Amino acid sequence: MPGQSSTSATAAVLGIETSCDETAAAVVAADGRILAEALLSQQGEHAPFGGIVPEIAARAHIRYLPAMVERVLAEAGLHPSELAAAAASSGPGLIGGLIVGSGVAKGIALAAGVPFVAINHLEAHALTPRLPGLVAGGAPFPYLLLLVSGGHCQCVGVLGVGRYRRLGGTVDDAVGEAFDKVAKLLGLPWPGGPALERLAAAGDPRRFKLPRPMLGRPGCDFSFSGLKTAVAHLAATYPPGPLPARDAADLAASFQVAVAEVLADRAGHAMAMFRTAQPDARLLIAAGGVAANAAVRSALSARAAAGGFSLVVPPPRLCTDNAVMVAWAAQERLRLGLLDPLDFAPRPRWPLDAPATSQAVPA
Ligand code: KG4
Ligand code: ZN
Repeated sequence: MPGQSSTSATAAVLGIETSCDETAAAVVAADGRILAEALLSQQGEHAPFGGIVPEIAARAHIRYLPAMVERVLAEAGLHPSELAAAAASSGPGLIGGLIVGSGVAKGIALAAGVPFVAINHLEAHALTPRLPGLVAGGAPFPYLLLLVSGGHCQCVGVLGVGRYRRLGGTVDDAVGEAFDKVAKLLGLPWPGGPALERLAAAGDPRRFKLPRPMLGRPGCDFSFSGLKTAVAHLAATYPPGPLPARDAADLAASFQVAVAEVLADRAGHAMAMFRTAQPDARLLIAAGGVAANAAVRSALSARAAAGGFSLVVPPPRLCTDNAVMVAWAAQERLRLGLLDPLDFAPRPRWPLDAPATSQAVPA
């Protein structure tokens, strides 16, 4: 609402997400209320290529983002100059998209005379459960984050804003990538995770004995390339062409249960590691597209309960890439006076536990 933006509860931030193949913008108030949100998936544009084409993604962001930003600001009833800040995912991700999103946010910040906040996309995922509503009053620190998506697969201890400990991660493929590659082997369209889950529903998860990479190993690193290769070898034993429907469903189900068991095992280790350093930790947050998988969620939930943790999975629209999480992460940083200069360069690689870049400014 114009005129209200200066009150501390409503001081609103514009968040922009363009790090991968979603173009998204949102306006979020300081108290976590989502004043407006919009998201456009580019899946249709990348599907013919069987994966994300960075150049197509960057061009699509340029095409969709400006009108989308205007729309969310209008819906929130705010002029850019009434914003508390303009923020964008500035890494890690595809550099073309990061440049587009950060450029638009910086442009608005410069033109409207409001601060710019460069958000680490992983930090945005990590802070999402602190939005009031998912956990009553917002998740209290510390908690454990399992980020499982097409681009990321890691366990992170979240101690505070800007205070993250990476406990482990994949040594090869991200788990969503493994879903996508196996789905492709089974003749499913990209992105494969949701299609594979549907196919697996009709399959027998005990039919094929697939490896469980890293299961039981100390630490909480992951590995998925061997599992994917095992499926590829099995698929190669069939004549060229589509697999028989029964076998494809059984293979999908066998793959899915192997992934769920591995994720639960690794999360179990991560919980034990985290608990040693943070005896008060009780929450396991799962985020990223793969957390939408019901078999994965139920395996994680059982393992969390066994480890004295509760599993919280944000709703799908906040679990996968979105701009609400970017705006909210910016709110968390703003509260600490952490702003970024307009010459901040987007970073295709930006580990979550890298030294902070934001500059504390006097309140
Ligand atoms: O978080 P996300 O939307 O985007 C990023 O990768 O950042 O995650 C997309 C990934 C894709 O690999 C997709 O196949 C996978 O998450 N995915 C799933 C499911 N839904 C999405 N994997 C397994 N089961 C699902 N239901
Ligand atoms: Zn993401």
